[in-house]
Amino acid sequence: MVFPTAVKLVEVSPRDGLQNEKNFVDTTIKIELINRLSQAGFQNIEAASFVSPKWVPQMADGTQVMAGIERRAGVVYSALTPNMQGFEAALAAGANEIVIFGAASEAFSQRNINCSIAESITRFQPVAQAAHQAGIRIRGSISCALGCPYQGETDIASVLDVVRRMQDLGVQEFDIADTIGVATPLKTARLMQAVANLVPTDRIAGHFHDTYGQALANILASLQVGIHIFHSSVAGLGGCPYAKGATGNVATEDVVYMLHGMGIHTGIDLDSLVQTGAWISEQIGKPTNSRAGRALFLKHNES
Ligand code: HMG
Ligand code: MG
Repeated sequence: MVFPTAVKLVEVSPRDGLQNEKNFVDTTIKIELINRLSQAGFQNIEAASFVSPKWVPQMADGTQVMAGIERRAGVVYSALTPNMQGFEAALAAGANEIVIFGAASEAFSQRNINCSIAESITRFQPVAQAAHQAGIRIRGSISCALGCPYQGETDIASVLDVVRRMQDLGVQEFDIADTIGVATPLKTARLMQAVANLVPTDRIAGHFHDTYGQALANILASLQVGIHIFHSSVAGLGGCPYAKGATGNVATEDVVYMLHGMGIHTGIDLDSLVQTGAWISEQIGKPTNSRAGRALFLKHNES
């Protein structure tokens, strides 16, 4: 089996990780999280979300967060932008990359962004155009690519349809999201292979939530079909407020532990990451969801 020698990790904890927290996480904590992550070696950090504060109050301080971080050279700080209002705010805040986010399920699209899939593409058009003009990279996220909390199964054709529409918009990286963490490895491999028939693998990312404990297995299955970009969240934080029952993203510590164990380069300092996972868990008053994070933290503190 040939595996990639290096993987690009997109750390999504400052956005996906925190957006679902009930209690408001102080802006200074968000800023410190991002700074710690860039110090640990992340080159890609999803730092903010310029959505309606009525819909997701936790992300209301995106402008202050982006203004407060210490920007490290070469690091891409990305932000979610559902419409032009979000794009203008992201541009003013100095985002290096924007994320338009749609879905492969009509029911989820309605609940998450209050419009149909077709309407969302129409909304994304001016955003994509403005991003191209401003020279900002565009990611396109496709939720419920492997199952929907409202519609159940998602067929591959629905995902490919959104991929094609986003290709037409000039999207540069396609985030294939298992929003509710229901996928299993062979299903994941089949979908990733189908996407890879349309888009080069260096433009496809796997975004796996770990609700059913399948995320690492799904990453391994994706690696086997040549995918080498993955999203993860330190301490396994996360969840979407509009995806009933969905828990956090796959924990970054677990992903890095697995990849390093396989001899795959990530550029991440695992010790520093583990400390950050312990720190943010303490800040939000919850135990970590990372198995490797917990084990390594205990081992470190015993010795
Ligand atoms: P809407 O209500 O249909 O929009 O919401 P609207 O254009 O009618 O605007 C209504 C109000 O929102 C107006 O304010 C606008 O100004 C304001 P009002 O006049 O009532 O005071 N507004 C905004 N404010 C700030 N920034 C903006 C913005 N846009 C409108 N950008 C909208 C449509 C898309 C805005 C709304 O549905 C929304 O914000 N949804 C966000 C949902 C969200 O953030 N979900 C979580 C992120 S996606 C995710 O987690 C999945 C992912 O991780 C992948 C996976 O795991 O599947 C990416
Ligand atoms: Mg997500």
